[in-house]
Amino acid sequence: MDLKGPLCYVLDFDDINNYAYQTALKIKQSGWRPDVVVGIARGGWVHARIQCDLLGIRSLFSVKVDHWGVTATKDGKAKLSVPLVGDVEGKRVLLVDDITDTGESLTTAVEHIIEVGKPADVRSATLMHIAGSKFVPDYFGVEITWAWEIWPWNFFEDLTSLIMKIYEGEKISEMSTAELKKHLREYNNIVLSDEKLSKIKAHMGFLGHIVYPLDKMWRLDE
Ligand code: ADE
Repeated sequence: MDLKGPLCYVLDFDDINNYAYQTALKIKQSGWRPDVVVGIARGGWVHARIQCDLLGIRSLFSVKVDHWGVTATKDGKAKLSVPLVGDVEGKRVLLVDDITDTGESLTTAVEHIIEVGKPADVRSATLMHIAGSKFVPDYFGVEITWAWEIWPWNFFEDLTSLIMKIYEGEKISEMSTAELKKHLREYNNIVLSDEKLSKIKAHMGFLGHIVYPLDKMWRLDE
């Protein structure tokens, strides 16, 4: 499969619940019981909240690490942009993110939590782990080879940036829905229903990227 852009998979909330459940099972089976969950904003928040439910934890805190810019492109080094919120001193901390890719986000967050939070212990959990990542989380749902995973909580953001890259790559300013479908398959191996596509079109109109409301075409608002 020779794609013109990054290989992408579209995930739904059933996928997320399955991977989160697998992760929680491994945590429980390890005999280690966290006192608090820290979610890495933004990618780890939904997973962090689900782990609270699966592990019976009421304390949910946050740190923010900025790293990835628009879909599948990195913004330089991982940077801690909002420090740890919440008291974790002497506690067993489960640090939660969506995926380990380069591993820089988790490495940065673990160092920060140990330094400012003085926890008893920090372990990490992600839904997915990309084989070869420099950072291996203590717990993860599934190991995969590299692809861009389109999370259900990032669907409109990712599809918007992928479609904007298609306009750029093809050097065009308008396309039909049929042409867009063909491009999404050729660039990213993505296939979407007409219903999903029309929601994305409305969203891109809302953001001012394309002319909306409009005829059948997807036309850039230049
Ligand atoms: N964030 C960092 N790497 C990612 C990937 N491969 N898929 C989705 N989100 C990511």
